[in-house]
Amino acid sequence: MQESESILEAAIRAGISINYGCSGGSCGLCKARLLQGTVREIRPHVFSLPESEKLQGSILTCVNTATEDLELDAIVAGSVHDITQQEISVKVRKVEQVASEVFKLIVQTPRTQRLRFLAGQFVELKKDQRTSGCMAIASCPCEDRLIEFHVRKKDDDAFADYVSNTAKAGDMLNLRGPFGEFVFDEEANRPVILFAFDTGFAAIKSLLEHITAQERELPIHLIWMSCGQDGLYMHNLCRSWNDAFDNFTYTGITLKESLQQLAMDVEASRATVASHMQEVMQAYSDLSEHDVYVSAPEPATVLFKQICAEKNVLAGRFFAEPVRGNEDMTCLLTLQKQP
Ligand code: FES
Repeated sequence: MQESESILEAAIRAGISINYGCSGGSCGLCKARLLQGTVREIRPHVFSLPESEKLQGSILTCVNTATEDLELDAIVAGSVHDITQQEISVKVRKVEQVASEVFKLIVQTPRTQRLRFLAGQFVELKKDQRTSGCMAIASCPCEDRLIEFHVRKKDDDAFADYVSNTAKAGDMLNLRGPFGEFVFDEEANRPVILFAFDTGFAAIKSLLEHITAQERELPIHLIWMSCGQDGLYMHNLCRSWNDAFDNFTYTGITLKESLQQLAMDVEASRATVASHMQEVMQAYSDLSEHDVYVSAPEPATVLFKQICAEKNVLAGRFFAEPVRGNEDMTCLLTLQKQP
């Protein structure tokens, strides 16, 4: 643990979904029982545990730090059903153009009202009554108060238009969530294939950063397919993961056509997408031991699922999520219309 870091902060950083609420010593939701080790109080708090619970070793993890290795009995979120939805006013920290048509938006939650979520979930962001969107969280819960989103420019989308044209640091947004069940199966200890199409990379990045924060030794293969020159807008980050992690493989696939060009020749587009998928998946003859996580428009998900099914992926081990904020991605909706 870092100096003066609370047990709660250390747990979040390590990818452990420990129960909490205010994170500031007022609600009592972070209560845990100390089984072994010693702690030191580092912050004042208004919530007081009953004496009887203190005698049994109960502590508030948000106001205590560990002075040695600890063993705790704490409530940990095992599924999305253990996470309550919140409504939080968040501040825009940064808007960065990461590709000609993609923006990275970072918002910050207040110190006293953090967002509790599981990697892979999404939220609704609202600027005003007419400007809102459902966006996949692109960061890991271990990032604590900073939450990242990837927004593709779209003419007919008020929220995408706001992010790409007028959003600036200091703007206040209303955040509601989290939503969705596209989360990592913590119980599984199986090799993982992650497939993202375009800004579907956001949800996949969140999952990947969560898995690596836990320092699991799982083989992971990240496959990211996108369109045009700068479609793989975080290609260097993916390559750095390739260098940093053992058992990690990254395959970036750039389709030379733009999304709009793909939409103009449906049959050719479908064949192109499928052939790139087939080529990268040639490395696998049997996926019965793998878990597959996909964030892509539905037609691309269907193509990828067919390929995985031919390689024996188990029905319950293929997890899919649409590309939030871009569910109507033009070219691939067109692909869906093919027989
Ligand atoms: S999270 Fe509310 S008291 Fe610790």
